[in-house]
Amino acid sequence: MLIDTHAHLNLKAFKEDWEKIAKRALENKVFLINVGTNYKNSEKAVEIAKKFKEGVYAAIGFHPTNIDSKREFDYEKFEKLARSASSGQAKSKVVAIGEIGLDYLDKKFKEKQKEIFLKQLKLGKELNLPIIFHCRKAHEDLIDILKINPALAGRGVIHCFTGNWNQAKEYLEMGFYLGFNGIIFKLNLDEIIKKTPLDKILIETDCPFLTPPNFPGKRNNPLAVKLVAEKIAEIKNLNYEEIVKATTENAKKLFNF
Ligand code: NI
Repeated sequence: MLIDTHAHLNLKAFKEDWEKIAKRALENKVFLINVGTNYKNSEKAVEIAKKFKEGVYAAIGFHPTNIDSKREFDYEKFEKLARSASSGQAKSKVVAIGEIGLDYLDKKFKEKQKEIFLKQLKLGKELNLPIIFHCRKAHEDLIDILKINPALAGRGVIHCFTGNWNQAKEYLEMGFYLGFNGIIFKLNLDEIIKKTPLDKILIETDCPFLTPPNFPGKRNNPLAVKLVAEKIAEIKNLNYEEIVKATTENAKKLFNF
């Protein structure tokens, strides 16, 4: 069994067939977490998760690239959404806050990004949930923020990690996980993957984005985690089965399901 720890069946690209894609993933023993980037698609992620008895979960959050001068983060609404996901169910289907963080690609709204990020960290703390971090061209600031919030104590993953080894080391020393997806076929992250302990690696697809080469169709889907696991096995010179076992255990441990 594998776990795609970062999927987006809640986005428009899967509007017509998310149910089919999720069922096919489960039939192939791939569990998945659909990750929100705004309130609406976080709500959708929860709705999708509730359709399945097991194996499909949700993360809710407000992505930094969705932040502008007008849009605000509504703490109460997100809190209510998280709590709604557990009503009538033994265990909440909301397993994380995310994806949240900092994105300095456009160098826009940096201060507002930080402010909204901190609010969401507070929400995660209040709900006792781990965090799925998005970080692009902002590792220095993210590391600084995480260092002054030791309460998080490694309860989170730097999704789609593409930073350098020094940055990776900082996150690992704080106990965080690093998430790898199809981008490892494009960028050379071999040294980082080699050095990252197996008990700190999570695998993901970020579907519909970042489709690995030779994957059928242009649109990525959760089944591609198999290719990511294979590639990591090759880089680390370990058996595929070992990667599957370790990354599944890691995901279950972090997201508590
Ligand atoms: Ni994503």
